[in-house]
This record gives sequence, C-alpha cells and structure tokens, in this order.
Amino acid sequence: MNPNELYSTLSRELEGFKEAKTFKYETPLESEQGGDVMVNGHEVVMLASNNYLGLANHPKVKEAARKALDRWGYGLASVRFLCGTEPIHFELERRIARFVGCEAAILHSSCFAANEAFFSALIANDFGQADYQDVIYSDQLNHASIIDGVRLCRAIAKQTVSRLYRNGDVNHLREMLEEDRAKNYRIKIIATDGVFSMEGLLAPLAELVELAREHNALLFVDESHATGALGKTGRGTIEELGVYGKVDVVTGTFGKALGGASGGFIAGREPLIEFLRQKSRPYTFSNTVPPSVVMGSIEAIDLIENDPSIVNGLRENTEYFRREIVRLGFKIIESRHPIVPIMLGEAALAQDMSRELLPEGVYIKGLWYPVVPKGEARLRAQISAAHTRDDLDRTLAAFDRVGKRLGVI
Ligand SMILES: Cc1ncc(COP(=O)(O)O)c(C=O)c1O
Repeated sequence: MNPNELYSTLSRELEGFKEAKTFKYETPLESEQGGDVMVNGHEVVMLASNNYLGLANHPKVKEAARKALDRWGYGLASVRFLCGTEPIHFELERRIARFVGCEAAILHSSCFAANEAFFSALIANDFGQADYQDVIYSDQLNHASIIDGVRLCRAIAKQTVSRLYRNGDVNHLREMLEEDRAKNYRIKIIATDGVFSMEGLLAPLAELVELAREHNALLFVDESHATGALGKTGRGTIEELGVYGKVDVVTGTFGKALGGASGGFIAGREPLIEFLRQKSRPYTFSNTVPPSVVMGSIEAIDLIENDPSIVNGLRENTEYFRREIVRLGFKIIESRHPIVPIMLGEAALAQDMSRELLPEGVYIKGLWYPVVPKGEARLRAQISAAHTRDDLDRTLAAFDRVGKRLGVI
C-alpha cells in the first residue's frame, strides 16, 4: 500500500465507522467543565464527565494552579532525572501515597502511562534469573491501559502468561490460582480496576486481598474512578470496602475526581517505587506533570481532606439520583458509585435518547456494542458533587419527558 492508497483506505474505514454508528463525535463545550456547561449557546447539566467532586473549576484549585505558574513556571522541559525535579513533585507523591494508604508513590504523565509502566518494568526484568515465567491474572473488564500493559509484557517477555477471570468472579480466579499452584511462576500479579467504568460496579477487594495473600501474589488495583469518589473520606474503593492499607499497588489518575486535569500515579512499597524510578520507561523518557497541575492536584487533596462536605455531597447526590431515576421507571445497574448506567438495550435507542436529551438540557453519552455487550446499550450518567438539587431535578424531569416520548418508560 503506498501512502495515497493508505489514506484512501483510512477514509473508507472512517465512512464505515459512521455507517456502523461507532464514529466518535466530539461536542465542543463553550464553558469550563462543571455541573452545568454551555453547549450550542445553551446551559446543560453535564452528566458525562469524571468531574466527580466538582473540582475541575473549583476556585481554590484554579488559584493553586495560577500560583504554581508564577512560582514554578509553565513546564519542566524534560524528564525528572535529567532536568531536575521540583519539591512540589515530591510533595504530591508523598500526599497521594498517604491518601491511598501506601508508603510511596511515583508520578506519571497519565494513569494510562502508569499502568503500562508498572507491568512492563517489573516483568521485563530478569533480575539475574535465566529461566522464569510470570503470570498476570486480569479481570475481564479491566481498563484498556491494563490490557495494553499486559500485552506489552508479552511482547517484551514472550513467556509471560496472562489469564482473564470473569468480571468480579472470585471463584473463577481462585480456580485459576489453584490450577497454577504447581507451576512455580516467578511473579504473580492479580490486576483489577477498583471500579469498572461501564457498570459502576466495585471489584470484590476484600476477597482479592485474601486470595493474593494465600497465593503469594501482588494485588494491583487501578483506582482511577474511585479515588475521591468512593469511601467515607474519599480514599476510594479501598476505603469503601475496608482494605485501606492492604493493597500492594494502587494506581490512579489526577484527571478525574482530583481536579480533572491530567497525570497519574503508582503507589506501593518503597523499593517498588524506587525501582520504577529507575526502570519505568514512560517515567524515564517522557516529560513530567507540569507545575500548575501538580499544585492543583495537591490543592484537590487538601480540599478533600479538610472539607468532608465535598465527598458527602457526591454521596448524597448519587443516592438521590439512583433512587429517583428508578422511581421514574428506568432500569439501572445497582451499585453505590456515581456512575449510573441507565439500561436501554438497543444502540439506536441509546443514541436517540442521548440526542433528544441535549435540547432538553442534559448532556449525556450512550455506550453500545462493542464497548458493552450486544443488547446492553445504555446511557452512562455520572453524578458530581457540583450538581445542585435543581440540576438533578431538571435532569430527572428531562429523562421523564424523553423516556415517555421514546416509549422507554
Ligand atoms: C480505570 C482507568 N484506568 C486508567 C485510565 C486512564 O487515566 P488517564 O486519563 O490518567 O490516562 C482511565 C481513564 O479513563 C480509567 O478509567
């Protein structure tokens, strides 16, 4: 294929996406991210962002970012071990480690990068052993970054074994671990999202902690959708399910509840984190998080730690919306997370509902096959502490009108 043939092929593919209704369109916002946003000149309730705590445009977070620009400049212009690192980077690492109940943490430019870094840095290293085999047990619904992290390991060290267990199915995982008892794997890792983002379901962390201990495995939990959003004090699924301080490796993002900008972290025991500082390729060969984002993220943690009303507000809004949307007659996946999947079945219906809700003042996106199983198309509502009761009531009223019009309720 010469380049021109390639471009024609790509254009045909894109047309195919549009015909199959899998083409992703981006809706321009005319305002900051928040509980309400401006779209096409209208104010609409934002139900499609991960801004769980409403910190994306919080005055104190913005002020911290502004101060960081003045004090520490716009960027570091290289990677940390070459160009130097700023005290605020170490401070954020200390703060996030403490927040998620671990000894130490290392920043990455995103959680996607952090997840890829973690698996490949460990598994690619022979640690002076000629013949070894590692195994990763991964929940079937884990995020793409974990899937790609595992793929990368297998590209680097072909002997790496990866085994998928059914979503949240501890018995299935236990069977695999029992089967593998005699196999003498060098490193065993059990990897799971704390919260699965298409369902809002929580991983069975208490059981996973037990299984990991029993089988000498490391338990890795990606708390991207949970840090700030779950637990009495916002410390995530690990707090919500009573395993705070008991998980070996916690990863997460600063791009959702913790201010919503960008950046990720890996937290765990000191030697692991120091090893990653030496061997994580995305850390070694990619710029670090800019000062404004670092200071904004520190401020986000300060706010969560000092003002319980933020996390409590999210919990109250989530409980209210979950209760009321069911009362209207919609079917949801029961859980306690602010991700509320409203089940519609067919993709066309999810598309119609999402389109008709926008002029009614609600910004919400649909998910359909292949992102979720066939026949399980849904709208995914994401509740935020930034939503007022009025926002939620207007949203529910719009759902009632559109749901009746389209024959869903
Ligand atoms: C579970 C999970 N892990 C990782 C990521 C990636 O996070 P980031 O945006 O920081 O790369 C996401 C974001 O969608 C996620 O949901």
